[in-house]
Amino acid sequence: MLTRSPADPDGILEGVLISDDDLRKRVQELGDRISRDYEGLDPLLVAVLKGAVIFAGDLLRAITIPCSIDFMAISSYGSGTESSGVVRILKDLDAPIEGRHVLVVEDIVDSGLTLSYLLGSLASRGPASLEVCALLAKPDRREVDIACRYVGFEIPNRFVVGYGLDADEQFRGLRYVATVDESRIAL
Ligand code: IMP
Repeated sequence: MLTRSPADPDGILEGVLISDDDLRKRVQELGDRISRDYEGLDPLLVAVLKGAVIFAGDLLRAITIPCSIDFMAISSYGSGTESSGVVRILKDLDAPIEGRHVLVVEDIVDSGLTLSYLLGSLASRGPASLEVCALLAKPDRREVDIACRYVGFEIPNRFVVGYGLDADEQFRGLRYVATVDESRIAL
């Protein structure tokens, strides 16, 4: 259970879903697997702003082979919680990815609409390979079929915040992933 904290003055957080410790262990496991799978391939992590920024930073440090990182920003929800499927690129990659082994790093795959659009855009640029590493997945909400090679945790159909994920730009800095009182956030 959570006690009221300065990070949550309105008491919107309900409970810890994934602890700091469990996040750390899982990110290390993913880093180990990626290091083995991409040995000699000099992968490029494409982190999706803003939600994946903390996960991507920790994952990058858990990867022990040469590896670079770039960032994309796309619009998804606005301040509500339903994906519209209308996606815009707000910030594109700094460099071409033709011939690169690209691993998209996403915070959470919910309906899959955002990622589906992003993968389409990246695939058209001719990467040598294109895979996804998502910290969280909500399988019950999936509307489009997306093959995620790496998934940190499958979670129930609840709105979650922390470790990069936000509710209306709040709570990204929490060290754990928490559920929120969904009646108290903007829909
Ligand atoms: P999708 O297009 O429905 O898969 O939505 C993906 C995006 O919606 C993620 O990258 C997040 O930015 C956001 N999102 C989906 N579920 C949650 C959640 O539970 N908490 C915070 N953001 C979420």
